[in-house]
Amino acid sequence: MLKAIIYKTNTGHTLEYAKMLSKDLDIPAYDIKELKKFKECLKIDDEIIYMGWVCAGRISGLTKINNGYKIVCTIAVGAYPDSKKNFETLRIGNNINDNNKLFYIRGGINLEKLNPLLKKIFKIVGRKLEKSDKEYNRELANMFIKGKSFVRKENLDKIEKYLKKIKDK
Ligand SMILES: Cc1cc2nc3c(=O)[nH]c(=O)nc-3n(C[C@H](O)[C@H](O)[C@H](O)COP(=O)(O)O)c2cc1C
Repeated sequence: MLKAIIYKTNTGHTLEYAKMLSKDLDIPAYDIKELKKFKECLKIDDEIIYMGWVCAGRISGLTKINNGYKIVCTIAVGAYPDSKKNFETLRIGNNINDNNKLFYIRGGINLEKLNPLLKKIFKIVGRKLEKSDKEYNRELANMFIKGKSFVRKENLDKIEKYLKKIKDK
């Protein structure tokens, strides 16, 4: 039985998704920083959903939580568009096994919450991509230069459908 969501966010996109999912599934969502709080409420081996932002291909916080609770579903939140290749790289690179269903959803880039150095780096990356003749790269350039959120409720539809089926098992 699914007991809770644990999430790790850097600039807020994962938090937004975690709140929506928590409401729809009617289970609590805990920030990974609230370790003391969720340790009191959850037992080791309780089933949970883990949501983490993607940092250089890593689903942040996942290994920490994996050493305790039973993660039945992991939701990775990144900036890049979903693709089979991106998904497989995440799955393999983060050692996601068959008992842990992985989903990838798009968060975005929140320049306002990034430190000045990262902001600068993203703008440099954006300026390079901007020159590309590929529409895909120009869309990314726009995201890196201006910042953009792709958080949409409907991005959770497929995930909720899956989770509602396993929730009370
Ligand atoms: C240092 C850094 C590394 C990142 N690496 C990736 C990456 O490898 N793949 C990806 O899709 N997004 C990457 N991103 C983008 C974040 O995953 C994206 O902004 C996400 O929405 C952040 O979620 P949050 O707002 O909950 O922190 C990176 C962002 C930062 C700041």
